[in-house]
Amino acid sequence: MKTAITEMFGIKHPIIQGGMHYVGFAEMAAAVSNAGGLGIITGLTQGTPEKLANEIARCKDMTDKPFGVNLTFLPAVNAPDYPGLVRTIIEGGVKIVETAGNNPAQVLPFFKDAGVKVIHKCTSVRHSLKAQSIGCDAVSVDGFECGGHPGEDDIPNMILLPRAADELEIPFVASGGMADGRSLVASLAMGADGMNMGTRFIATKEAPVHENVKAAIVAASELDTRLVMRPLRNTERVMTNDAVEELLKIEQEKGADLKFEDIIEQVAGVYPRIMTEGDMDAGAWSCGMVAGLINDIPTCQELIDNIMSEAEAIITQRLAGFQAG
Ligand SMILES: Cc1cc2nc3c(=O)[nH]c(=O)nc-3n(C[C@H](O)[C@H](O)[C@H](O)COP(=O)(O)O)c2cc1C
Repeated sequence: MKTAITEMFGIKHPIIQGGMHYVGFAEMAAAVSNAGGLGIITGLTQGTPEKLANEIARCKDMTDKPFGVNLTFLPAVNAPDYPGLVRTIIEGGVKIVETAGNNPAQVLPFFKDAGVKVIHKCTSVRHSLKAQSIGCDAVSVDGFECGGHPGEDDIPNMILLPRAADELEIPFVASGGMADGRSLVASLAMGADGMNMGTRFIATKEAPVHENVKAAIVAASELDTRLVMRPLRNTERVMTNDAVEELLKIEQEKGADLKFEDIIEQVAGVYPRIMTEGDMDAGAWSCGMVAGLINDIPTCQELIDNIMSEAEAIITQRLAGFQAG
């Protein structure tokens, strides 16, 4: 399939694996890229320029296909060495960066000069237009369904994607709730040039996470995610578990007085315990409603091949069939 996104990134299929904390290691990115999609290493999981350089080198050992690095800009007490991470990406020869969180204007000139394409993840039309105006090459439009941070507007993709299509001139991919060939065709129909998936890629053979995480996603239904940290205007969609129910109880008790320190035990530094050790009640971890559509643990190649053949069948048979009638 050929779209503005496959052309821009030099990939076979218009499918991107979004950056994911403690999931987007070299093994994940390489498996997606080898299967014809775009794999993405999560920069902040590595944390330092030295470790990121090592991860980029490991990924290059595992694939000769294009892959990207995610740079998430978060309000942090001890800010990561962003200039160092940007330099490492450029010196590592990576040609695609997914930015997320705050406006990436400060880092864009460095990437532009180095010929690096930037796709910025946005949860609203106004942020997407801002990304376009500052010179981003593409956007990833993340609807309310998404795992991770859906923003504060709560607009689902059925509305958000056509709204983005009406306003944007640069290409965009649909993100949040995407799982299969139906998702891809629907995304294309609503004006996107491809799709981005997070949760779906965690339940794959190559995802470098504990088997308990994959099993939890397969077992979950679309009813099993919760929104946390809304009172802090840092809303995150997570899989429900004991820690999340406790967190929600604290949020309810504290009301408008809630401070980050009140929930630190449930959210800070919990990812290694969950993703690496498989301690599924250790804290809040991002997961999309799309868990309800995930029932298997294929290889990335099987997943992407199935998506593409299902999409093709929908376009050439189901949709074409309506036209004939
Ligand atoms: C476990 C997990 C961790 C994530 N970590 C990040 C991150 O560090 N940076 C980021 O930009 N997005 C992160 N995301 C969001 C994904 O890149 C993607 O936008 C989102 O998962 C899409 O929604 P979906 O899960 O419904 O496919 C994360 C998502 C998950 C599920």
